Amino acid sequence: MIKLDYSHALLKDDINDYQGKVDEIHQSIINKTAKGSDFLGWIDWPINYDKEEFKQVKEVAKEIREKADVFLVCGIGGSYLGARSAIEMMNGLYDDNKVEIIYVGNTVSATYIQQVLDHIKGKSVYLNVISKSGSTTETAIAFRIYQQYVEETYGLEESKKRIIATTDKNKGTLNNLAKVKGYRMFVIPDDIGGRYSVITAVGLLPIAAAGLDIDKLMAGCQKAREDFSTSDLNKNTAYQYAVLRRMLEKQGKSVELFVTYEPHLAMIAEWWKQLYGESEGKEGKGIFPASVNFTTDLHSMGQFIQEGYKIFYETVLIIENPAMDIVFPSCKENLDNMNYLAGKNVNWVNQMAFEGTLAAHVEEGEVPNIVLHIKDTSEFSYGYMIYFFFIACAMSVLMLDVNPFNQPGVEVYKKNMFKLLGKE
Ligand code: PA5
Repeated sequence: MIKLDYSHALLKDDINDYQGKVDEIHQSIINKTAKGSDFLGWIDWPINYDKEEFKQVKEVAKEIREKADVFLVCGIGGSYLGARSAIEMMNGLYDDNKVEIIYVGNTVSATYIQQVLDHIKGKSVYLNVISKSGSTTETAIAFRIYQQYVEETYGLEESKKRIIATTDKNKGTLNNLAKVKGYRMFVIPDDIGGRYSVITAVGLLPIAAAGLDIDKLMAGCQKAREDFSTSDLNKNTAYQYAVLRRMLEKQGKSVELFVTYEPHLAMIAEWWKQLYGESEGKEGKGIFPASVNFTTDLHSMGQFIQEGYKIFYETVLIIENPAMDIVFPSCKENLDNMNYLAGKNVNWVNQMAFEGTLAAHVEEGEVPNIVLHIKDTSEFSYGYMIYFFFIACAMSVLMLDVNPFNQPGVEVYKKNMFKLLGKE
């Protein structure tokens, strides 16, 4: 399902030298003795997920698709990035879906909040507030504003149907609020952290509301769980990727550039950045995760990657069968001199751009490249891919002897902000 090509990674050591270390960490993940093992719930979630809740997710999603013009997904970080990455990867950026999905609660920009309010006026609105802690400021600010809008527009009774809360099962401000208000609720399991939560109701409700098949997505995760249950580095591509990251770090590379060649994969890069950045950047350690979208960014960042400071390696995500293709048309006058491409597929041109860039960056720029090939942008492939990144992330970060599942550093800005805001 995922082909990993490291023949362009300019490695100095042999990946198999890491087999012993990988075996040891794999055992600690399986036995739940690894650092942060309270948050390993995602490992078996593809088979252990709550089937009854899953059914309800599909029912609510169906209702949203029937009744809503606009579905507001209110959350930040792990509480929205997964859903958005999935929906954009599978539906593209300008899909003709009946339900327009708008992501709110991920900024404190008054302009953004107000523009969304203006945009949704007169449309049928459903609102899903998603927060594990239940008290995240960005989400809480937006939620109160949109909640009041929904209540004023539809009345309290109807709002109970239109507002859905996804949060902790038993505790937290949002859990309490939702119970008092009588909203429908979905659960974020205790042992699954935000950045691993796209395969729970956090991601599944918005993804299903976007008209996508969450059974197939879970089937992709299940297949990946099977495929990555071995610690054998010759077989487990996720562990190969985990080790390659550490090998390149050892070779002096401190920035990983996640490269995509499709604009509708930009949110996959954002999701990946959160997963790796928040999991790894601790105790003065970690590779900085950044992203570029080619060929667009070859006209901005390309110069630096080719000839600048040699701190990067690239991880390129290639879709073998993009969702659509166009045959480039011929033109009689040929005033733009583009007839040399007439009759060619635009995807073929993109493929040539990738091959040309790979050679330029690796051979001349000496920038190591790892290339990940995935079959397509289907639900199954998405599910498979995210599980690949989950397990690779856990392995890679544990190789640094860092807890991959907490984010203590995120609290520092919050503490300062709360002090300035006068929060008790
Ligand atoms: O990965 C994480 O845990 C974070 O990014 C959280 O998802 C994010 O901070 C939002 O938190 P919450 O769901 O508690 O509102």
